[in-house]
Amino acid sequence: MENDLQAIVTQAEAILTAVRSRADWEQAKATILGPNGSLTQAAKGIGKLSKEERPAFGQALNQTKKKVEGCFKTSLELIETQADINSLGEKSDPSLPPVPHHLGGTHPLTNVRRKVVSIFRKIGFTVAEATEVETEWFCFDALNTPEDHPARDAQDTLFFPADSKWSNIAQNNKEHHVLRTHTSSVQIRTLFKEKPPLRVIAPGRCFRRDTVDATHSANFHQTEGLYVDKNVTIKDLKAVLDYFLKELFGDQLETRLRPSFFPFTEPSFEVDLKAPNLGKLSNKWIEIMGCGMVDPEVLKLVNLNPDDWTGFAFGLGIERVAMILHGIDDIRHFYQNDQRFLSQFSNAT
Ligand code: DAH
Repeated sequence: MENDLQAIVTQAEAILTAVRSRADWEQAKATILGPNGSLTQAAKGIGKLSKEERPAFGQALNQTKKKVEGCFKTSLELIETQADINSLGEKSDPSLPPVPHHLGGTHPLTNVRRKVVSIFRKIGFTVAEATEVETEWFCFDALNTPEDHPARDAQDTLFFPADSKWSNIAQNNKEHHVLRTHTSSVQIRTLFKEKPPLRVIAPGRCFRRDTVDATHSANFHQTEGLYVDKNVTIKDLKAVLDYFLKELFGDQLETRLRPSFFPFTEPSFEVDLKAPNLGKLSNKWIEIMGCGMVDPEVLKLVNLNPDDWTGFAFGLGIERVAMILHGIDDIRHFYQNDQRFLSQFSNAT
């Protein structure tokens, strides 16, 4: 009988050497320790023994059981340790050189804004900034856009509740606060702060109540420009914009000024451009920006004498430039943060 017990230990050890998984282990355990297992069957043999033989057999049986259980415990620990190691994946070798990793790149709209700013910096423009929340007066009245002008319509403008408080905005009268609909309000803020001659550009985010479709977004970006000096003429305006647009779109560019209307410039123009290197937009006249000579009424409002000072202003959509430069036909791509789109313009390392 004791030989049988020894054979069971040997059997358990042999089975366990082949066990690789928890399922194998459970199966092996049933073979030895389960209700029909070999050790359980051997234990039943106690009934055939005489009273005298039983204690010795019982003792041997207990020892065998302990041994076998010990073997199973060790085997289970090995299986679990191996499973943990496997879950860590391939072993790494710390002596290998580092794997190159990618840093994030800048957004295509940031790239265009930086490019625009750097082109104007070269000809002496500095950057002016103001807050995205404006008063109605700076956004409209001061720019010759009276209260009944359609641009102020609740259809176009995002108004704040009358009782909202803003500590960073000079409150003029009791006018409403709005999310600025254009960066042109920075012209007025700059003219109050600085004396001419001055040249500034003001890149920034603007908002209009607009249904989002392929070419419109309620949130977009502009760059405003303002140049005020003695004897500034339309020729200066045209020369500066030609220089700027050629730097941006290439030397083969042609431009034209088309008469238009903006309340704060007189005369006003739309600038169109045509270039052979713009993909499917090549060699077509494309409207790119608004501009004009600063209206004398605007100059008077900031206490400048229009007989002494003249100037020009312009406003350009950053999204529009990026769309023309890269042949993008849906403005919504800029705001969806889809890596497949963004990585195409990435300057990431
Ligand atoms: N503020 C105008 C807009 O949002 C753009 C613009 C047009 C700005 C003519 C100007 C300008 O400074 O002279 O549509």
